[in-house]
Amino acid sequence: MKSSAEFKQLYAAKTPASRKLSERARQTLPAGVVANVKYFAPYPLFMQRAVGSHLWDVDGNEYIDYCLAFGPLILGHGHPAVVRAVAESLATWGTTIFGTPNELEIQYAEKLMSMLPITGKVRLTNSGSEATYLALQLGRAATGKPAIARFEGHYHGWYYEGVLSNTPRAADYGDPDRPTSVAGSRGTPAYILENTLVLPFNDLDACSKLLTANRDRVGTVIVEPSPRAFYQTDPAFLEGLRALTRELGMVLIFDEVMSGFRSGPQGAAGIFGVEPDLMVLGKIIGGGFPVGAVAGREDLLDLTSPLSSGGSVFHSGTFNGAVQVLAAGLATLDILSDESQMRPFYEATEAFKAGIRHLLTAHHIPGHVAGLGANFGVIMSETPIRNYRDLARENGAMREAFDFACLTEGIYVHPHKPFYTSLAHSAQDYEATLRKLDQIFAAIS
Ligand SMILES: Cc1ncc(COP(=O)(O)O)c(C=O)c1O
Repeated sequence: MKSSAEFKQLYAAKTPASRKLSERARQTLPAGVVANVKYFAPYPLFMQRAVGSHLWDVDGNEYIDYCLAFGPLILGHGHPAVVRAVAESLATWGTTIFGTPNELEIQYAEKLMSMLPITGKVRLTNSGSEATYLALQLGRAATGKPAIARFEGHYHGWYYEGVLSNTPRAADYGDPDRPTSVAGSRGTPAYILENTLVLPFNDLDACSKLLTANRDRVGTVIVEPSPRAFYQTDPAFLEGLRALTRELGMVLIFDEVMSGFRSGPQGAAGIFGVEPDLMVLGKIIGGGFPVGAVAGREDLLDLTSPLSSGGSVFHSGTFNGAVQVLAAGLATLDILSDESQMRPFYEATEAFKAGIRHLLTAHHIPGHVAGLGANFGVIMSETPIRNYRDLARENGAMREAFDFACLTEGIYVHPHKPFYTSLAHSAQDYEATLRKLDQIFAAIS
C-alpha cells in the first residue's frame, strides 16, 4: 500500500513551478491565495490554461478537471456559446455595466424563474454568500425574529453572521458530550452565536424538539437540501422539515448554490418535490461569472422593494446584474433547459459514478460515491454517511493518498472536495479516468 507521503513526494517532483509561484504569492497574498478554498498543503497547483474539460498547470502537466472551479463550469471551460454571448454582449450593449435597469435583467429573471420549481420573484447578487445573506435578512424581516437555524457542516458562505457557527452549543442539546466551541471563524461576536441554532441533518425528531423549543426566537431555517455531495438526503426528512417549519411559522430557505442545476434540472427542490419559501442560487447560473440569486415567495422578495409599505429590507450592489454575467448566464441557462443535451450528460455522469463504485468494490475499499447528479463525493468510510458527524469517521489517511494520487495521475480534484462533471467531459475522459482510478485504488488499498 502506497502512503500519502509517497504521493506527495511525487507531487512535489512534478510541480516545482507551482511551488515557486506559491512561495512568491505568499509574499503579498496570505497563504498565497485570494480565497481560502483555493489553498491546500503543501501548496496548491497554479494553472495556466484550460480547454473544455482539461487544465494545464505551469509545469506543463495536463489534468482532466473534476473541480470546475468548485462547480460553476457545468459547460466546461470556454464553452463556445458562452464565449460568443460574452463577446456579442460587449458589441451589442457597448458596456460591462449600465448602473441603470436594462432589458437583459428582465430576460434573465424571466428565464431563470421559468426553470425553477418555485414561483415568485428573484433578486440578483454577485456571489452565493451575498445571496444567502440576503435570504436570511428576508427571513428575519418577515418573522421579526432575530435568530436563525442552520445545519451542522453545511456551508452557506464565508461571512460570520451565523453561517459559520458550525458546532452546536451544548446548551441547545442538553448534551455534555457536545463540544461547546462554536465559532467557525475568529472574531465572531457572541451575539451572533447566541442567535444561531445548529441542527443535525437527517434527524427530524431532534429538529422538531430544537425548533419547537426555540420558536420564540428562531424565525428562519437555512439548509442545503442536498448537502456537500458527501451524504444522501432522506426525502422524508426534507418533507418533514418543510411541514415543521410551516407549522411553526418559520421561513425555510433552500441553499442550492451548489445543488441548483447540478443535482438535476430543477435542483434538489425539484428532485425531492419539496417547495421552500426561498431558494438561493449561484455558481452555475452566471456561466462562469460572479453571481448569486434569491428566488421565491413574492411577499418575501417584495420586502426588498423601495416601494414596500412599512419600509424595505435594504439590498443593493453596484455590480448586481452586470451585462456579461447575465449574457453568460443566459447562454448557460439556454443549454441547461435543453433536455436533449442535459439528459445524456446526467446519464454519462451516473455511468461514471457507477464505474467508480464498481472499482471501489473490486479493490475491496470500504467507500461510497454519494451525492445527487453531477456533484458527488468519493468517501472512504465503512459506515453509511447521513450527516456531518458521520463524515468525520472517514479514513483520512486513505483519502489523502487518494487525493494526491489523483493529482499526480492527471485527475484534478481539490483535496477533500467532491467531484464535479461538465458537458465538456467526453466518453474518452471518463474511460481514461476510470483506468487511472483502477491503478490508484490498487496502489492505495
Ligand atoms: C451551498 C453553498 N452556499 C453558498 C456558497 C457561497 O457561494 P460563493 O462562494 O459564491 O460566495 C457556496 C460556495 O461554495 C455553497 O456551496
